[in-house]
Amino acid sequence: MRHLGIIMDGNGRWAVSRGQERLSGHAEGAKAVARAIEAALECRLECITFYAFSTENFKRGVQETLGIFSVLAGFLENTLLPLVKEKKLRVRFIGDLKRLTPELLETLSKVNVAGLNNTGMTVVIALAYGGREEIATAFNMLLERRLINLDASPITYDEISRYLYTAGLPEPDAVVRFGGYKRLSNFLPLQSAYSEFFFTEKLWPDFQKEDLYKICAEYQKIKRNFGDIPK
Ligand code: FPP
Repeated sequence: MRHLGIIMDGNGRWAVSRGQERLSGHAEGAKAVARAIEAALECRLECITFYAFSTENFKRGVQETLGIFSVLAGFLENTLLPLVKEKKLRVRFIGDLKRLTPELLETLSKVNVAGLNNTGMTVVIALAYGGREEIATAFNMLLERRLINLDASPITYDEISRYLYTAGLPEPDAVVRFGGYKRLSNFLPLQSAYSEFFFTEKLWPDFQKEDLYKICAEYQKIKRNFGDIPK
């Protein structure tokens, strides 16, 4: 497996079931992200993508939104930044980043700069991300370029993919969703066209490295034919 996408659901339920504030579930969720990165390095993945905050998540109100941003900023400074240096990680933030706070954007650029010349695994964090918005943004950029070039030739998927936030990354071989629901929630809808899907009842803060090992092993077992006849 080259690229695994993770939908980290269930932080709120994890906290509420313990009589805690929802935010403590997000804080535990951030610790789980660190475990997932370690496991992904052990499994020699090229790329791992975390769905950290969707465009729809802004509906949660200012308090929870800023709470998640502050957990994320702490994770980036204290956990990811040292890992970027130690493990030579590359980092990419995808989404409508202008919707984030200036403080968070500053932390993002610090992490980005630190990983600029690295050649190790790529950690992708989807923030203010929505797949449909990503597609619309890509088409708008593509349209602008084509108007400048007076180009009306047929559009190919390859061309579209060059304008997606994930341009240059391998498409996810597998997507796993934690927290019991079986839906994609606008996560990499085009890129996951050929992905294997895994769903688990486990809430994201309960993630253990063995969960990722198991997904990699299961994935390896699945014979992938891309619509061809099994050979
Ligand atoms: C979904 O759980 C989770 C989120 C909306 C936020 C995920 C954010 C983090 C794990 C924090 C930091 C991120 C990184 C990359 C370190 P939910 O709140 O929807 O859970 P529920 O369905 O139980 O309410």
